[in-house]
Amino acid sequence: MPQNRIMLDVLKGKTVFPPPLWMMRQAGRYLPEYRETRRRAGSFLDLCYDPDLAVEVTMQPIERFGFDASILFSDILVVPHALGRDVRFEEGRGPLLTPITAAEIAALESKTFHVNLEPVYETVRRLRAKLPDETTLIGFCGAPWTVATYMIAGHGTPDQAPARLFAYREPAAFQHLLKVLADHSAAYLIRQIEAGADVVQIFDSWSGVLDDASFDLFCVQPVSEIVGRVRAVHPDVPIIGFPKGAGARYRTYRQKTGVTALGIDWTVPLIAAKDLQRLGAVQGNLDPLRLVAGGKALSDGVEAILKALGDGPLIFNLGHGITPETPIAHVEAMVKLVRSATR
Ligand code: CP3
Repeated sequence: MPQNRIMLDVLKGKTVFPPPLWMMRQAGRYLPEYRETRRRAGSFLDLCYDPDLAVEVTMQPIERFGFDASILFSDILVVPHALGRDVRFEEGRGPLLTPITAAEIAALESKTFHVNLEPVYETVRRLRAKLPDETTLIGFCGAPWTVATYMIAGHGTPDQAPARLFAYREPAAFQHLLKVLADHSAAYLIRQIEAGADVVQIFDSWSGVLDDASFDLFCVQPVSEIVGRVRAVHPDVPIIGFPKGAGARYRTYRQKTGVTALGIDWTVPLIAAKDLQRLGAVQGNLDPLRLVAGGKALSDGVEAILKALGDGPLIFNLGHGITPETPIAHVEAMVKLVRSATR
C-alpha cells in the first residue's frame, strides 16, 4: 500500500498539518456536472447501480477540488433495497419506502443480497483502480438505527417518532430488524473492503433523538456488532463512526463501539472535540451553512477548527453533508483556507 495517503496516517493517530480534507456528500447537486450525469441516469437508484455513472460522479469532486479522500457514490438505503424492500427517491421529496410491518420484519431475508449489490462492489473496484494512489477510498453503510427509521416511517421525519414508537411497542420485532441490518451491513462493508475500500464510515444520522437506554440498545450495540464483525476479518481497516447529534454520548459511543475515529457534527463544542481527539482521530465539523454563506462566516469557522484541533489527529470535513445551494466558489475558498493554513 502506498505510504503517502495522509488520511490513513491520521486515522492511525498521527498529526498531519494542514489536515487531510474531504466533504460529506461531496458528489451531489451543488455540482453542475453531477446534475448533468444525474439527468442521464434516470432515477437516483439507477445512478447508484450503474458503475460507469457512479464512478463518474464519485470522481467529479476529486477532479475539481483534489480532496484527500473519495467516498463511494451510493446511498445508505441500498441495503433495505437489496433486502427486497421498495425504495424510491422522488425529486424534492427525498427517499420514499413502503413502511415495514412487524410481520414483514420476521420474514425479512434476501438470498440475493450480494448479487443485488454487485454493481456497488464493481464501482468500488473500478474506483480503487482509477483514483490516484494518494487518495483514500471510503466505503460506507448506514447504521442499523438510521436505516431502520426510514424503513419504518417510509420517509424522513424530524424526530423519528414512528421508529421510536415502533421500537417501544414491538421490541422483539425491532430488535430483529436491527440484527438483520447489522448482519447485512457488516457483510456489505466487508465486501466493499475486499473490492478496494481503504476505510469505511458508518453513518448514524439519527442517533441524536434517543434516550439513554435506547441509544445504547439501538445505536451502540448494533454498531459494536458491525465493528466486531468487520475487525474479525479486516483488523487493520479503519472504521469511522458518525453518530450525528450524539452530544454528550460521543465519548461512550467511541469507547463502547471501538470505532477508529469519530465523525463529529457542528454542534459538538470544540473543547469537547479536543477531548475526544485524545481517544483517536476526529473528523469534522464545519457547519455546512458557513460554507453556504462564505466570507467571514466561512473563514472564522475554518480557523476555529484548525486552531482547536489542528495539533492532533484531524480530518477536516463538514459537520454534515454539503447542501445543494452551496456556491462552488465557497468550496474552493474552503480548500484554499485549509491547504494554506499554518500553525
Ligand atoms: O458524496 C457522498 O457523500 C456519497 C454519497 C452519499 C449519498 N447519500 C448520495 C445521495 C452518501 C454517503 C449518502 C448517505 C445518506 N443517505 C445518509 C447519511 C448521511 C446524512 O446525510 O445524514 C442518509 C440519511 C441518506 C438517505 C438519503 N438519501 C436522504 C435523506 C436523501 C434525500 C436528501 C437529499 O439530499 O436529497 C438521499 C438522496 C441522496 N443521496 C442524494 C445524494 C447525492 C440526492 C439525490 C439526488 O441526486 O436527487
